[in-house]
Amino acid sequence: MTGKQGRQWRSMGKGLVLGTLLTSFMILVYCFSAPQIHLNSPEVPVPHSCAHRPSPLKHTTNSSQKASGPSCLPKMDVMFLKTHKTASGTFLNILFRFGEKHRLKFAFPDSRNDFFYPSPFHRAQVKDYRPGMCFNIICNHMRFNAPELAKLLPTDTTYITILRDPAELFESSFHYFGRLVPFTWKIQGEDKLSEFLLDPQSYFDPESYNSHYLKNLLFFDFGQDNTLDPDDPRVDAGIRSISERFDLVMLVEHFEESLLLLKDALCWEMDDLLFFKLNVRKGSTVSKLTSELRAKALEWNAIDWKLYQHFNQTFWKKVDAYGRQRMADDVAELRIRNKRMASICIEGGHPVEAGSIQETDMQPWQPIGSKSIMGYNLKKNMDKAHRKLCRKMLMPEIQYLSELGVNLWITKLWGHVRDVINW
Ligand SMILES: *[C@@H]1O[C@H](CO)[C@@H](O)[C@H](O)[C@H]1NC(C)=O
Ligand SMILES: *[C@@H]1O[C@H](CO)[C@@H](O)[C@H](O)[C@H]1NC(C)=O
Repeated sequence: MTGKQGRQWRSMGKGLVLGTLLTSFMILVYCFSAPQIHLNSPEVPVPHSCAHRPSPLKHTTNSSQKASGPSCLPKMDVMFLKTHKTASGTFLNILFRFGEKHRLKFAFPDSRNDFFYPSPFHRAQVKDYRPGMCFNIICNHMRFNAPELAKLLPTDTTYITILRDPAELFESSFHYFGRLVPFTWKIQGEDKLSEFLLDPQSYFDPESYNSHYLKNLLFFDFGQDNTLDPDDPRVDAGIRSISERFDLVMLVEHFEESLLLLKDALCWEMDDLLFFKLNVRKGSTVSKLTSELRAKALEWNAIDWKLYQHFNQTFWKKVDAYGRQRMADDVAELRIRNKRMASICIEGGHPVEAGSIQETDMQPWQPIGSKSIMGYNLKKNMDKAHRKLCRKMLMPEIQYLSELGVNLWITKLWGHVRDVINW
């Protein structure tokens, strides 16, 4: 047996072991922690609002508020649909900090960092849920389910989400989740992505475990059917229902503009928008797709492409309403502030590979089979005032969730299993 074959067998063996473990593990876990649905408890109507109203006296900061008018109050009831592979980790960090600053109540999942994705969201999956409770923010991965969310969240909730160019998203998802999708194991060659895109139909099996990661993942995350024909009327109906439900759809490619639209819509402050890019992939600054592969990826993910183009249109309409010049000025200011924070917080000023991260608290979660996600080292000798903010801004999602009191035993156990079999 050649070394290459050996590697392939080993990799397939690991895949099988892992797949079996994961599946049985998830079934077990589901049996134990499947939410006890209180069918008998009476329906308690959701409150109109769960936002704590800050006293107007405290409202004296005038530096960043003048642009959004003197009299608006920050909106604090937020539903963020965390789509996959869309820089949503970076956005989550912003939401966590905003929530902590205003002592908001998060609707978190229990024992893991998602709401039993890819099962559709159900409010009984929320940690400590009781009918009639008030939650301000929900933001972990879920498969969107509008009627259920409406029974959980106050009626003044602002719904937001973020999209990414579907070809880039597909490439990223293939890299990150490919090995969790059994039908990819039989794809030959080094460049499995190209091989797959040459003839996706010959590999793809919609019934296969985890197959949603590799076709119209965005549309799937919105709770829609990702395997429809792109010309099916249900696709347009789906896009329409998304645009009616969501108040703001941000774009990864215009992240700063997106944040400023958010600030405008929610009456937040510029300081609420500070961020560092989290979960940066090694060598990700240039696209890995040739124009030919890009075209194939868009064709394969035609529903997501339709979705993206639709919300690209609405996005730029919003930017026009905001004012192009005002937007350009505000983006420039946000970038300056982020740069200043980077020079205060980050050792060397840039992300480093996983092996070079000194604190385990700062280690990001890695995709199966590679250590391609970069992280940061905190600067040493920072003053106390900045130290706290810097730590939070750089903290990977799993660690931050733990800090916010989420019990993540399933996620952590899974991490240990991976450590043991060295994946
Ligand atoms: C508010 O603005 C005024 C003038 O525009 C300035 O003199 C004052 O120092 C500002 N106050 C704060 C708290 O920033
Ligand atoms: C997004 O919209 C802008 C403005 O209308 C347009 O210039 C751009 O080509 C669009 N991009 C995509 C991917 O559709």
